[in-house]
Order: sequence, then structure tokens, then C-alpha cells
Amino acid sequence: MIVIVVVLSIIGHTAFCVELINRTHATARLTHHTQKIIRNVLLLQILVWPFFLAAFRTPAPSLLPAAEWLQQLPAMVQQLLYGTALLALIPLHHTWRWQRRGKRQFLAAVASLPISTEHAGTTPDLRGTPGLLGRAFPWNEIWSPVLTLKSIVVTGPAAATISPDRALRILHLSDLHFDGTPGPEYYRSVIEACLQQEFDLVALTGDLTDRHDQIPHLIELLRPLQDRAPCLFILGNHDWRNEPQAIRASMQHAGWVDVGGKQRRLQTPAGPILVAGSEFPWMPQHPPDLSADDNDTLRLLLTHTPDDLSFASRQGFDVVLAGHTHGGHVVLPVLGPVFSPSRYGVRFAAGLFQTGQLWMHVSRGVGGMHSLRWRCPPEVTLLTVAPDSRVSRGHTGR
Ligand SMILES: [Fe+2]
Repeated sequence: MIVIVVVLSIIGHTAFCVELINRTHATARLTHHTQKIIRNVLLLQILVWPFFLAAFRTPAPSLLPAAEWLQQLPAMVQQLLYGTALLALIPLHHTWRWQRRGKRQFLAAVASLPISTEHAGTTPDLRGTPGLLGRAFPWNEIWSPVLTLKSIVVTGPAAATISPDRALRILHLSDLHFDGTPGPEYYRSVIEACLQQEFDLVALTGDLTDRHDQIPHLIELLRPLQDRAPCLFILGNHDWRNEPQAIRASMQHAGWVDVGGKQRRLQTPAGPILVAGSEFPWMPQHPPDLSADDNDTLRLLLTHTPDDLSFASRQGFDVVLAGHTHGGHVVLPVLGPVFSPSRYGVRFAAGLFQTGQLWMHVSRGVGGMHSLRWRCPPEVTLLTVAPDSRVSRGHTGR
């Protein structure tokens, strides 16, 4: 019994610390430096907790009846032990949600096509601490990107404005983190795979780079996409902590359309659409209010974080594209994603989610600052948006 309580305490304490890490990384109120300190303290606490409990193991539980061992523990330690054991309900809840819906949403792809990065080489990428980590974990997937093909059917009033014969095809890229690891050849392989597909629009949902001096190289790599379709972008938290105005200006100068805090109407081969961009909470304001706009055009929101879901719902968006969470970085068997910087925790770590008439696609991202991924490969997505054939064409009002 005591062993079970101790094991539950370790599990519950770990889950609680991970929850705190996820939620403190979702806010713009804390500086990156503070977030890093909190994360490192909590990770250290996870490691220390079993030793803390072991320190009260005298005399050993095996030498004393369980009740007596408990009684000889200081009252505060007893409370901590039982309190943290109760927190084991957190991973239990995650497992229940992951098994019930999350796994299906996470894996909601028509196809997942591996992108060969063979000619990208691995040696130049394996430098520094990320390289060490990459080597240390043999199943690390940070160099194994996939092109996922996903499709959704929109049912709202906007469905009538999308051609029934020609679905809208959006190439969704997110979280490039173009800062040296993996190297440029990795990204070239991803772009080449994208160019094998047909698309009407390119949407880049933030975290372009942590090194502003890399922007010219990134723009050059992305140039072939611009020859194929309109390219729109917003910035993410990593861009905001870098030099956001300089990154924004460089991208605009190169021909990318900045929709951060703005909205644009576009004519696509599938029909007219409205695209808005949100960099909230890092940009303090959302794009202009659409709640009173009864125009039936399909509304697409590019946002960096899935935490904008409720805003998108209030504003009558039909489709949201987001990133930021990197799929949870590590997806444990049975339990699901782990590290997901969101106020929803791991709930929207990656995948396709529907709430009412609103669809949200959360990308696992192409790159990442952290060099460990497991059962969570980097992705670029071709999202097909088709209208529900049952929606009458010629309706009035949203
Ligand atoms: Fe990111």
C-alpha cells in the first residue's frame, strides 16, 4: 500500500510540474528568462522528489508496518505525500481524453508521406548540445519530417462560397525555427516535398527563427513557394523575443503578406476568402472585430497558439491554423503528448479539432528549439478545405 502511495506521489508530482511548465510557457506576462528559470526549477524538482521521499525512509518501510511508517513521518511530509498522490489523477485524466478522442485528432491525416532528408546529411546538424541530445536518443525524430495530407469539410454559411468542384488547398507551415539545427539542407528537402503538391495558399504560422541574421537565408529557401501561390505569415513568440519588426519588414520586403493583427480578402481558385492573423498574446491586440460582419466569405485565422480558439469561435471563423505546441514534443504510449506550451495543456498539442462549425488545425511544426521528438515527427501539412455538399447555395447571412 505504501509503495503504491509513493509511486502515485512520484507520478502525480511529475504530472503537476509538467502542467505548470506547459501553462507558464503559454503566457506573454512572464519573460522568457523567467519561464526558463521556472522550467529548470520544476525539472530539477521532478528529479529530486523521489530522493526527498527516500530521505524519510528511516526506518525503512519494509521494517515497519505501513501505518507506523506513515505515523513517524512529519505531518507536512504526510500531507505532501497524499496530496501529490492525488495529483496522479492528472495523467489519468489525460490518458482517458487521449484514448477517447485525442489520439484520433492527433493522427487525423489522410496520408503521412515521409520526406527524405538523406541528401541533407546529418553530420553538420549534429553540433552543440542539440547534437549531443540528438545522438543520445536513437529514436529521435527531429530529422524525420513528414508531409501530412489532411482534409476538412466546412459546414457554416461560408461553405456556400467555396466551389463544390474545387476545394481550397492550403499549405500550412509552422514553427520553422530556422536557426542552425537542423541545417538549411533539411529545410530545402521539406520545401522540395511541398513543391510536389498543388496548393492555392501558403500559411506560415510563426516562429520563423531565433536568429534574425538567418532571415535572408530563410527567405531564399522559401522563394520557390512564392512562385506558386500567395504566401501569408504571422510571427510567433520566438520572433517576438528576437527582432519582430526587422523580421516582419524583411518578410514583407520579400513579398510575403503580413496578416499579424490584420485581415485581408483574397480571391482563390476555390472562391473568395478572408484571412486574418493573430499574434496574441505576444502582440497585445487581436485582429479587427468581425463579430458584426455578416459577409459569408470563408474566414481563415492564422494564429501562433491554439489558445486563440475561443477568440476564433466568437469571431465566427471557419478555419484556424495554429502551431506553437510542437505536438507535445514527446508522445508517450498510452498517455499521449507531454510538453505543450498552452493554457489548455496538451489538449490541443497537434491535429484537427472541431467545435461547432469551427475547425482548428494545429501543426507539429517543421523545426524546434528543443532537439528531442519522439512519436511526434516534424510536419508540413497540405490541408484541403471542401464545402459540405448539403449546404444550400444561395442562403442569406452568417
Ligand atoms: Fe515554436
